[in-house]
Amino acid sequence: MSKTVEVLPDLASLIHRGLELSLAEIKSAIAERGQCTLALAGGGTPKPLYEALATQDLPWEKIQIFWGDERYVPPDDSDSNQRMARQAWLDQVPIPVANLHPIPTDEADPAVAAQKYEQHLQAFFGIAPGEFPALDLIFLGIGNDGHTASLFPHTEALQVCDRLITVGNKDGQPRITFTVPLINQARCVMFLVAGESKQPALEQIFAPEAEASDYPARFIQPTGKLLWLLDQPAGNRLKP
Ligand code: 6PG
Repeated sequence: MSKTVEVLPDLASLIHRGLELSLAEIKSAIAERGQCTLALAGGGTPKPLYEALATQDLPWEKIQIFWGDERYVPPDDSDSNQRMARQAWLDQVPIPVANLHPIPTDEADPAVAAQKYEQHLQAFFGIAPGEFPALDLIFLGIGNDGHTASLFPHTEALQVCDRLITVGNKDGQPRITFTVPLINQARCVMFLVAGESKQPALEQIFAPEAEASDYPARFIQPTGKLLWLLDQPAGNRLKP
């Protein structure tokens, strides 16, 4: 694993840097393997990056889009990560429908939806149960509590190590999420973190010693590149 931490002056420069690095990862994946497999983060921080990616002239037919987590709501719900990414980016570019792999949220039991998404990934990557595919680029954010994807502090999802997808739990609300081992298999993980409210969690995530179940982003130690892009308000007190 190679870990890089960049603190950018403001959100605009964080997004600009995120675009630069994302394009580099996308283009090298396509050059090396003929396609790029991407997993999107939800929340608000990545939205301007998705809007910037929508302005790029890319070989969209070679880009495969997954979601790293999803709220358990219909795709047209204002809370939906799929809806946010489609409005900001995916509905604005000629990416084939078949290249979009949204997380199903229409099963009565979220565990069934998680299993369906896992089977979809296994079929797409041509892997057997127990194997973990390496996505080319996974975008992540962190919450003020140090969660990432839908891996929330002190939840069962943090311990799932034999599956690709599991059910997360945010204050009793189900979420569908990539598991820690699936994220850690990625060739590149890019955290995008902005705002002073994230500073306390970042200090714990970067501390030499802290309980990972208190700050789940500590579990993210990918085999590939780990890029942290922070704006000044989030990262200015971090010890290098
Ligand atoms: C989600 C995200 C989640 C997000 C953090 C940060 O579904 O909400 O995947 O992990 O990245 O909560 O959200 P903000 O970028 O809005 O601060």
